[in-house]
Amino acid sequence: MAEESKSSLDALSALCKRRGFIYHSSEIYGGMPGFWDYGPLGCELKANVKQAWWQFTVRGREDVAGLDATIIMHPKIWKASGHLDTFADPMTMCKDCKKLMRADQVKDIYADQKKKPQPKVAGSDFFCPYCGGELTEPKPFNLMFKTVVGPIDDPSNVAYLRPETAQAIFAQFLNVTATSRMAVPYGIAQMGKSFRNEVTPRNYTFRSREFEQMELEFFIRPDEAVELQYGHVVTLADNPDLNGPVQDDWGWEVWHKYWVEQRKKFLNAVGLPTEKFVEYWQKPDELAHYARACVDIEYDFPFGRQELEGIAARSDFDLSQHQLHSKVPQTVFDDPLKQACKKLTDDDKAAFIAKTQAEWLDWKQKAASAKAGKEVVFSDEEKADIAAKAKVFCENLFDGKYVPHVIEPSAGVDRLMLALLCEAYEEQKLTDEKGKEDIRTVLHFNPKVAPVKVAIFPLIKKDEAQYKLARDIFTKLQKKVNCQWDVSGAIGRRYRRQDEAGTPWCITVDEQSTKDGTFTVRERDSMEQRRMSYGEFLAMMYEALEF
Ligand code: GAP
Repeated sequence: MAEESKSSLDALSALCKRRGFIYHSSEIYGGMPGFWDYGPLGCELKANVKQAWWQFTVRGREDVAGLDATIIMHPKIWKASGHLDTFADPMTMCKDCKKLMRADQVKDIYADQKKKPQPKVAGSDFFCPYCGGELTEPKPFNLMFKTVVGPIDDPSNVAYLRPETAQAIFAQFLNVTATSRMAVPYGIAQMGKSFRNEVTPRNYTFRSREFEQMELEFFIRPDEAVELQYGHVVTLADNPDLNGPVQDDWGWEVWHKYWVEQRKKFLNAVGLPTEKFVEYWQKPDELAHYARACVDIEYDFPFGRQELEGIAARSDFDLSQHQLHSKVPQTVFDDPLKQACKKLTDDDKAAFIAKTQAEWLDWKQKAASAKAGKEVVFSDEEKADIAAKAKVFCENLFDGKYVPHVIEPSAGVDRLMLALLCEAYEEQKLTDEKGKEDIRTVLHFNPKVAPVKVAIFPLIKKDEAQYKLARDIFTKLQKKVNCQWDVSGAIGRRYRRQDEAGTPWCITVDEQSTKDGTFTVRERDSMEQRRMSYGEFLAMMYEALEF
């Protein structure tokens, strides 16, 4: 009989430390807030999460290519992307205790305090959540870490640690397009470290200062190009089949929803059940000015429902910004589009331009109104500017040229690992036939991400034949997956050690094994044991690990 209980982040973090998943960085010197190290089990889990993402996003598809760019890049990249000017959090400081914090997190920090201070200035509702002191006016604080390239510490040599992996993808868009011989719609994926000087890193690894991202920039045709080429644009109202093969006549809306569904499929495949996360569709006034839509996939962490990852439709903003700042055209040439446009008459083209101008004006005015919270009507000058840009855009389309739009599914490795750990963690109260109670701590990882796939034990270590056979099985399996060898203690204790590590299968070699080569396989979640041959075990394991 098992009574199940999910435990808090404290119990999980204690297990993570004890079993070597996660440690404080630089712990012997007191640690560094917002920096975490992954121990022997943690680094295996991380490698598996990244490998699963890469398999699902890159290798398992024909329309995505990979990239591994540097962390430090030309500083102009961050000017073009907007990070230098706008990648900031509002920061405030307590005038009394001098603690720094994000102004928008003051209320949350206060809610977390066991001893809640009263405001020192009576009636104030913006006071220090630690001591009740007066807080300074919030000031924007840029989250990028600065460094200096080369031996001379001069402002002209300042560079930044990347705050996201995405920008390198845009900066290398032309190279990858040329060398991968892929054509839009197609994507470029990258995984790697990102750095943000978070004002208040919180909630274990959830908001760290050094973390990893897994990002895909999936480039698509602008809807206007789709319309010119196919005579229509498939929208969500057409009820497209998002589980079938992708289609060339999809508009941005369908691509965006397609990638939301893909991300959900991936999260399911690595062990997060659908009912455990929700889609939060950002409201028009929350969207960045260039974004058409943005969905956060949120997960119920022990500290509340929080963003796990995001999927944004970013229009052509990023490539256009790099085109503007680098002066290198970021357009692609789409011959089928050019051929389709050759069939248009001058009247067709004029009508198309007029329609596009009206649509752009409508979209931009609506976006501006949503941001302002009231109806915005552009001036004649602004309208003329939009109309002129729309005309140039259409004329380029008629020549088969455009700057691709992009859908960006962006995930954090560490955040997903934390969600997987929270989801997997369970303390089971077991009662044996004699009524004796015991707690079994188990990590129910999906085998695809489990740090250790198989543990191998001889039942009786002093039995030479059992020991040798078990050792042979271990050596063979070790060449295929991450295995552990354990001969210490009673078999029950060995199982429990593996339960805490989240190992899905334990192989025990016993007397019968030495006669017929079969062994028992104990399954972690059901705790059931089945006798199998080596071949049967391999087939079962490979099926569970396959994407
Ligand atoms: N290129 C888009 C981008 O970077 P974001 O929402 O800032 O978007 C994407 O970050 C994902 O990266 C987040 O959903 C989260 O999973 C992860 N992430 C962002 N900041 C993080 C931090 N300080 N610590 C851990 N993960 C973080």
